[in-house]
Amino acid sequence: MLVSAKEMLTKAKAGKYAVGQFNINNLEWTKSILLTAQELNSPVILGVSEGAGKYMCGYKTIVGMVNGMLEELKITVPVALHLDHGSYEGALACIEAGFSSVMFDGSHYPIDENVAKTTELVKICNEKGISIEAEVGSIGGEEDGVVGAGECADPDECKMIADLGVTMLAAGIGNIHGKYPENWAGLSFETLDAVQQKTGDMPLVLHGGTGIPADMIQKAISLGVSKINVNTECQLAFQEATRKYIEAGKDLEGKGFDPRKLLAPGAEAIKATVKEKMELFGSVGKA
Ligand code: 13P
Repeated sequence: MLVSAKEMLTKAKAGKYAVGQFNINNLEWTKSILLTAQELNSPVILGVSEGAGKYMCGYKTIVGMVNGMLEELKITVPVALHLDHGSYEGALACIEAGFSSVMFDGSHYPIDENVAKTTELVKICNEKGISIEAEVGSIGGEEDGVVGAGECADPDECKMIADLGVTMLAAGIGNIHGKYPENWAGLSFETLDAVQQKTGDMPLVLHGGTGIPADMIQKAISLGVSKINVNTECQLAFQEATRKYIEAGKDLEGKGFDPRKLLAPGAEAIKATVKEKMELFGSVGKA
């Protein structure tokens, strides 16, 4: 059964480790992530962007697929199904479809509007026992080939949003989605420290987990980060493994093209990536 992310994140914050959020794009990725979490006895969060939601035939299809896998694969570790960077309407649709967790990304709204929309969603999520993530200070990333710097959140605004009763808070600390540019200044631990001091026990979320050096990840966890999002690294691992398989001509062997064989090396590569991250984040054995 899917669970809210609240309990796993409260435990992670208290135990000074982080739960990984791995974004899913199809059946193979989902299966790889769930099997790895079960094998390592780790809690896990499956992230779904609105784009991936459309690709996978909508939120109801995803809920059906994940619930089916939990049963058929006999997954017993805590699993949350979470909307990643949701719009207000997207969050409502996921709640309706049976997600156990949502993120409302109101970071691009003026703070008053972010507060108003987050407040409404917190009320709905609380009634249904669903966890909710809010964001302050936008996470940078690549847009049209230009890599924008990650913003640093205002700690007072973080406190304002945390006090609305959200389960977890994503605060921008110079992190960005995708690969980091060579001249990246690194995470702002000064901002993270100030945010954690203002928000106390609130589990903090680090987006853009791909490419952050291990020592920075560990320091971020020591300063209150309890959930780390990884997407690009799984995509790169999948792409590389599939490319090698095709280049070796293996998809042409035997009976010829077989989608199950073609996708198998990528699925294995995702398992390896997820394992490496769970070990780094310290969530192994914490289910
Ligand atoms: P990366 O793609 O950089 O791993 O970031 C993932 C993320 O933060 C999803 O919200």
